[in-house]
Amino acid sequence: MKQKLTIALSKGRILKDTLPLLEAADIVPAEDIFSSRKLIFDTNHDNIKLVVIRATDVPTYVEHGGADMGVAGKDVLLEYGAKGLYEPLDLNIACCRLMVAGMKNASEVEGRMKVATKFVNVTKEYFARQGRQVDIIKLYGAMELAPIMGLADRIVDIVDTGNTLRANGLEQMEDIGYISSRLVVGKAAMKMKHRQIQPIIDLLSAAVEARKDSAGKEKAEK
Ligand code: ATP
Ligand code: PRP
Repeated sequence: MKQKLTIALSKGRILKDTLPLLEAADIVPAEDIFSSRKLIFDTNHDNIKLVVIRATDVPTYVEHGGADMGVAGKDVLLEYGAKGLYEPLDLNIACCRLMVAGMKNASEVEGRMKVATKFVNVTKEYFARQGRQVDIIKLYGAMELAPIMGLADRIVDIVDTGNTLRANGLEQMEDIGYISSRLVVGKAAMKMKHRQIQPIIDLLSAAVEARKDSAGKEKAEK
């Protein structure tokens, strides 16, 4: 008999790109997730359920076995610092970069730099690795506002098109790293439910490659 399997999905911007990949792996929610207030969804498989939660809660659920596997941004995973998770697949969605940014043409900061971010752990590690001492100011959103209002000298945030930085008179200064959404699997689940989880990883992996191929073709045709 097949064991029960729960997959935690990040609500918000990556959900829309996650569902077609799951569908390619033959996992389809039984109802429209976007028009429902439910948190748990049945699927076309009796034994598979989807839970839809905040992006930042996905690693917590998966690490502690509240879900067997999940989808989360690499930024969220780095910040969470999970040790009880495997990360078997880059889903190649919500691709962006984590950057240090500041006001355009801002001068060098003398003394301790004030850095506003919601990625406190990642920021601490990044500057510590370089031996630079900074004061970190935790924010929950709209980081770009902090240097404008004199709250901080720099921010650490996600940059995709760069439009948000430009629109607010900021520029990117240092590239911390590449971010995309990843499939994560709990260590216990990988052990106990491997026979069910591995085929899903394989199907998702094929779907990611197919999506890359069709994006490549589209680009070539333009
Ligand atoms: P929370 O639910 O805690 O508010 P959030 O606001 O970071 O989380 P989303 O905005 O839905 O959640 O972003 C989900 C993920 O999408 C992020 O963790 C990141 O990996 C990626 N992401 C965020 N901003 C962008 C962007 N502008 N372009 C591409 N990917 C992005
Ligand atoms: C994200 C990020 C940046 C913006 C970058 O914000 O925090 O502000 O996207 O994208 P861009 O380079 O294409 O402009 P989001 O829209 O998720 O808002 P939030 O951080 O306030 O949740």
